[in-house]
Amino acid sequence: MDTIAILDFGGQYCHLILRRILDFGVHAEVLPSNTRKEDLKKISGLKGIILSGSAASVYDNDSPKCDKEILNIGVPVLGICYGHQLIAYLENGEVKSGNAGEYGVTELRTIGQSGLLQGLSKTEKIWMNHKDIVTKLPQDYSVVAVTDKSPIAVFENQKKKQYGVQFHPEVTHTENGNRILENFIFNVCNAKKELMISNIIENISDEIRKKIGNRKAIIALSGGVDSSTTAILVSRIIGEKLTAVYVDTGLMRHKETEFMEQEFSKHNLNLKIINAADRFFSALKNITEPEEKRKIIGKLFIDIFDEIAQQEKAGVLIQGTIYSDRIESGITPNSSVIKSHHNVGGLPEKMNLEVYEPLRDLYKNEVRSIAKNLGLSENIINRHVFPGPGLAIRIIGEVTPEKAEIVRKAGYIIEEELRNANLYNKVWMAFAVLLPIKSVGIQGDARSYKYPIVVRIIESKDAMTANFSKIPYEILEKISTRITNEINEVNRVVYDISNKPPATMEWE
Ligand code: XMP
Repeated sequence: MDTIAILDFGGQYCHLILRRILDFGVHAEVLPSNTRKEDLKKISGLKGIILSGSAASVYDNDSPKCDKEILNIGVPVLGICYGHQLIAYLENGEVKSGNAGEYGVTELRTIGQSGLLQGLSKTEKIWMNHKDIVTKLPQDYSVVAVTDKSPIAVFENQKKKQYGVQFHPEVTHTENGNRILENFIFNVCNAKKELMISNIIENISDEIRKKIGNRKAIIALSGGVDSSTTAILVSRIIGEKLTAVYVDTGLMRHKETEFMEQEFSKHNLNLKIINAADRFFSALKNITEPEEKRKIIGKLFIDIFDEIAQQEKAGVLIQGTIYSDRIESGITPNSSVIKSHHNVGGLPEKMNLEVYEPLRDLYKNEVRSIAKNLGLSENIINRHVFPGPGLAIRIIGEVTPEKAEIVRKAGYIIEEELRNANLYNKVWMAFAVLLPIKSVGIQGDARSYKYPIVVRIIESKDAMTANFSKIPYEILEKISTRITNEINEVNRVVYDISNKPPATMEWE
């Protein structure tokens, strides 16, 4: 297949570049930044190379660099942010520290001609996230576009087909970012669309067959679309040898266990339900630090799966981990850990079980397409994402059964009101967060002193970036009224109007 290689210098958005290209139907791979020229040349169908962003500066002694010779392989190269600066640096241009840096949405003004910006307006909204800037171009390169703070915001070397953009076309805040990437992939690299969902299912099924062989396996089934899709896919291949384990941690959504029983009775799946609420609440007693919560929950899950695996004589633990879970848990050497996703970060060094994650390279929309293809119900396919550590990371401070009940009820009210307004399927997720403070209110002519609930409703395409949803005020008002009327411990409701970045979706 035609392939685009993305060299990973550790920027948080490196994997979004991959996401965008896969969405175009073109095969792409993320490779370490120090991949050698010879190894890149061995990739059959290599059509282009993209150099990702990074938190580093090209002048730092230990900043990630690439083999300069990759610029001479003969395929087009696009540098993004740090990648843009790196091309200039490697080709003997000049990079300097910009005074205060440039962060957020800004205006790009095109001053030259370039195939990279074909079809775009003279001025475009783009998203910046950098301190250093390119101040002098290497020989044979020309400036294509500028911003107020970046005199060389886009450059090109037409002959060598090398391009640099100081901003991030892969982030949705850059309005026509996809058009720029498409120009590079299709017009400059001439790559073909060759990726199809049926091929993906076939490849993963082959891998499952080889990997599990004749062994018995258990799968951690949460009821979300990722683990449900994994469970159905694996059970189609190994049948009765798979046991699906659903652990009720006491930190799940409203009536979750009933939902699981009902949904999975439609499939030929060997489902085991474990009620472990007491174990989770006692392990979380007095714990307030978010990473500690995540690690404790991850470890407890693993202990439970270990116990069941022994009973079932299973040798493999299957998880529904997908690509975005791994990125934020820091799968690549140059990137920083944002959160330890429980199904990635909580695993002990030594385990009796082999962990296998068949969907580890897929993004949510691919998983949803596979789910559809396998005949999973709409209730599961379009279900909002729910984090592995559950309500524990939506209760700021210590987790108790009483607080779990409050945040569960509030979350249910939010979801129900969105469904009533036909908005549930239009947002990425919608939930409540309980804060460990109290404020004064007036209820029934008397003073009250109770918890506030944060309502968080988010729109996102890929979990990596997100915007808060501009929900009509009437709906927010209904949600607020219901929460304060129906939950005795709450007297105030606030709406979270933060985007990601700089916030994350969950509060912990
Ligand atoms: P953040 O808060 O990192 O969340 O912006 C991005 C998406 O990931 C979900 N999330 C998790 N999912 N295990 C999971 O399976 C986890 O530990 C975890 N933490 C966050 C979150 O709900 C959102 O959809």
